[in-house]
Amino acid sequence: MSDTVPLHYEERGSGQPVLLLHGYPLDHTLWRAQMDALSDSYRVIAPDLRGHGQSLAPAGVYPMETLAADVTALLDRLGIAQAVWVGHSMGGYVALAALRTLPERVAGVILCASHPFADPPDKAQTRRDNACRALAEGTAAVVSGMLDMLFRPGTNLESIPAHRVRMMMLNTPPQGVAGVLLGMADRPDSVDLLRAPAPPKAIIAGRDDQIVRFADVQALAGQLPHLSLRVIDEAGHLPMIEQPDATTAALRDLLAYWKR
Ligand code: MLT
Repeated sequence: MSDTVPLHYEERGSGQPVLLLHGYPLDHTLWRAQMDALSDSYRVIAPDLRGHGQSLAPAGVYPMETLAADVTALLDRLGIAQAVWVGHSMGGYVALAALRTLPERVAGVILCASHPFADPPDKAQTRRDNACRALAEGTAAVVSGMLDMLFRPGTNLESIPAHRVRMMMLNTPPQGVAGVLLGMADRPDSVDLLRAPAPPKAIIAGRDDQIVRFADVQALAGQLPHLSLRVIDEAGHLPMIEQPDATTAALRDLLAYWKR
């Protein structure tokens, strides 16, 4: 894996390894409340994915498989053979890429405000256009309109949590924004990966998510008997920040159930 990027990360606790992967264009501090809570029983590792937070942002396309390989290289460095991969939104696409390409490293997958579908062509094209725009005009030109879509409708966007998220987004370098937008545009459909009973898989969904529609996730879960669905009320696309205790409880419940 010579082309992997060494990732900045935070690690806490001991026990079964649990990876917490953030979405686009955010960083590992998104999971602060869950790291604090779950590290009483688990070895929790939260990296900044390539192009985000304090990790490097090389030029070029970042396929989801490449982001998964970076995370696997981190697991290697930490001496961890297998982890439960918890992925928020794009982090979920990375967890699914790991399940496709490195299944032996995956003890379970929890998609949080995420889904397994590929982009429709118009969405993929918008991502490619925005990648060019980020490189030409900077990160703010692409991300500044995103904040109200991340939180549930009616959220005060001048609140401290919203300010934290705004700063995470603006801190993402243009090369990181472009790299993941191009990588997400090309990712394949992964619904088939969710059909197999092993390893265990679940979705945690915000009922008021404006990006990953709850109705779509609910319909998907209805078709896939091996996929657990946990719903977080009064949450949008950021349940770990909007309802931290309920999100932690859902994670704890799934992880404990899978350990039995
Ligand atoms: C994310 O939160 O990671 C993004 O909304 C994912 C996406 O754009 O598909």
